[in-house]
Amino acid sequence: MPSLLITGGAGFIGANFVHHRLGRHPGERVVVLDALTYAGNLASLEPVKGRPELRFVRGDVRDTALVESLLREEGVDTIVHFAAESHVDRSIHGPDAFIETNVQGTHAMLKAARKVWLQERAVPSHRFHHVSTDEVYGSLGPDDPAFHERTPYAPNSPYSASKAASDHLVRAYHHTYGLSVTTSNCSNNYGPFHFPEKLIPLTIVNLLHGQPLPIYGDGRNVRDWLHVSDHCRGLDLILENGRPGEVFNIGGGAESENLRLVETLCRVADAAFRDRKDLASRFPDCPAARGHSTSSLVHFVKDRPGHDRRYAIDCSKMERELGYRAQVSLEAGLRDTLKWYLANEWWWRAVMDGSYQHWIETHYR
Ligand code: NAD
Ligand code: TYD
Repeated sequence: MPSLLITGGAGFIGANFVHHRLGRHPGERVVVLDALTYAGNLASLEPVKGRPELRFVRGDVRDTALVESLLREEGVDTIVHFAAESHVDRSIHGPDAFIETNVQGTHAMLKAARKVWLQERAVPSHRFHHVSTDEVYGSLGPDDPAFHERTPYAPNSPYSASKAASDHLVRAYHHTYGLSVTTSNCSNNYGPFHFPEKLIPLTIVNLLHGQPLPIYGDGRNVRDWLHVSDHCRGLDLILENGRPGEVFNIGGGAESENLRLVETLCRVADAAFRDRKDLASRFPDCPAARGHSTSSLVHFVKDRPGHDRRYAIDCSKMERELGYRAQVSLEAGLRDTLKWYLANEWWWRAVMDGSYQHWIETHYR
């Protein structure tokens, strides 16, 4: 039976996809390749540790020899390539790692896939799926139409530029060598196992501790939020029925200004503290523990350099060709996400190690 190789499967979306595949595709062999760059540990895969169909390999996607040997020995016919440096703010502080992993790493993966699938073995039903971002399309004005698959690329940050470069390499390996590839460009994900450097989990962890909720600039930048479970369902549809060589935009249909998003999350948290008496004793520093609104913690900080104003995804191609529809509304998704963080304090405590603390101290100094 062929196997699925998931790169970056210990990261936020990758780990959700691992859980999703193990839950929805029983018996499937899943191999995870992840360098554990700064996640530091395997906390996000802890719930599936010991599952016989799962193999975890700590390694770098740039290690072509390792990837080739995994493809051969595991009989991999499908790769879902998540592994990347993924945080815009980190790319502004240090772009090199983004070029190394996102550009060179994707190229190393493509070379290995080509060698084993096309040159050595002729695996006719292979698939290389590349997970990319809507950020490659640049920034929208308030009235611009949403990004579609033919929107010209205009990446603005070192992160989005490195993802754009990787998308072009994936496309070129299809056109030049006939590698069977698909690419998805998705909007901002949120949900379980989201590393607390990103806006939503950072807001949750900070509000629970009565810490400021940092809002960049005027808080009016817009993101189109996609619950990670909808993303995983979208990826399944592409793997099942997406035509090789095609690109698909995946969105959540949930545009929100950052300030409004944070205020909604604060309202959801205030309601949770009203409904659950245990929370006040678990998180005594949260204003809601004393009956005050957590939105009093909102704190405007200096803007991100080159901060893209608005992202929005037109996912009508996914809807038309693959029957995709986002199922999780933003408000319900935020409620579920807060619930998950309250139930999985062990996880966010495990990932907020010394390097995380160092990042927070230097970035918000
Ligand atoms: P993440 O940072 O949580 O996970 C990335 C994983 O890749 C980490 O576990 C890391 O250890 C691993 N990794 C990094 N460098 C590696 C290397 N050289 N070799 C092997 N593994 C390496 O990121 P995420 O949010 O889960 O994003 C996953 C993918 O989805 C990325 O390609 C990202 O560009 C894309 N994406 C993310 C979002 C989002 O909102 N999070 C939106 C659009 C696209
Ligand atoms: P982020 O979660 O870093 O994702 P991305 O940059 O990929 O969109 O940020 C989401 C939005 O929230 C983005 O407009 C930047 C903003 N933001 C803040 O206002 N404060 C913060 O502390 C962070 C991390 C992000």
